[in-house]
Amino acid sequence: MNRKLFAVMLITAFTIPLLIVSTSAKNVKNPKILVVYYSKTGNTKQVAEDIAKKLNADIEQIIDLKDRSGTAGYLEAKKDAIAGNLTKIDKIKKNPTDYDCVVIGNPVWYNTITPAIRTYINNNKNSLKIIAYFTTALSSPVDETAPIFEKAAGQKVIASEGFLQKELSIKKKKAYDKKINAFAYRIVKEMKKIPAK
Ligand SMILES: Cc1cc2nc3c(=O)[nH]c(=O)nc-3n(C[C@H](O)[C@H](O)[C@H](O)COP(=O)(O)O)c2cc1C
Repeated sequence: MNRKLFAVMLITAFTIPLLIVSTSAKNVKNPKILVVYYSKTGNTKQVAEDIAKKLNADIEQIIDLKDRSGTAGYLEAKKDAIAGNLTKIDKIKKNPTDYDCVVIGNPVWYNTITPAIRTYINNNKNSLKIIAYFTTALSSPVDETAPIFEKAAGQKVIASEGFLQKELSIKKKKAYDKKINAFAYRIVKEMKKIPAK
């Protein structure tokens, strides 16, 4: 194939999906989106901020008021996550009822959701209209915890995505950005399918 033609095809293949995401996220039905996340060491925070930016969404960090530092904190984290315990979280600033969709980010703990995210969805179960879900993890895939999350939230998610720690590396930025864009695009696409009330 002619080199110039191949280069044009390559550029088109990468830019068109990006243009679709950025325009549809802003224009279609103007959905109000909130990204909520818990993050102990910063990975979920990074992904949450990038998704929020892409979706032009507001953002809220959930603060677990229980001390989870050091070995004792780690052991408590283990106990609470496995038992499905709730925890005390700081007062939230954004009211989820003000949003058409809430995208919730959870770092996987012991193959399940964190006490902080469990508490947030438990406290706001009746205020969450439409939800999407993402995880960050060392190796656990999102499909492992999505059913646990949906059960705790009492509803299905419209889209989910998992980000592994190794994918957050600066060296993999292109692939990471593509994944963020694709997830944002799926959220907007699924929202478009839902009839307006
Ligand atoms: C208490 C604890 C338990 C964890 N359990 C798992 C696990 O079961 N599977 C996994 O892939 N990663 C596990 N991880 C790794 C985290 O999910 C991963 O580092 C995540 O990106 C951390 O997000 P954060 O930086 O936003 O806190 C665990 C981390 C902690 C602190």
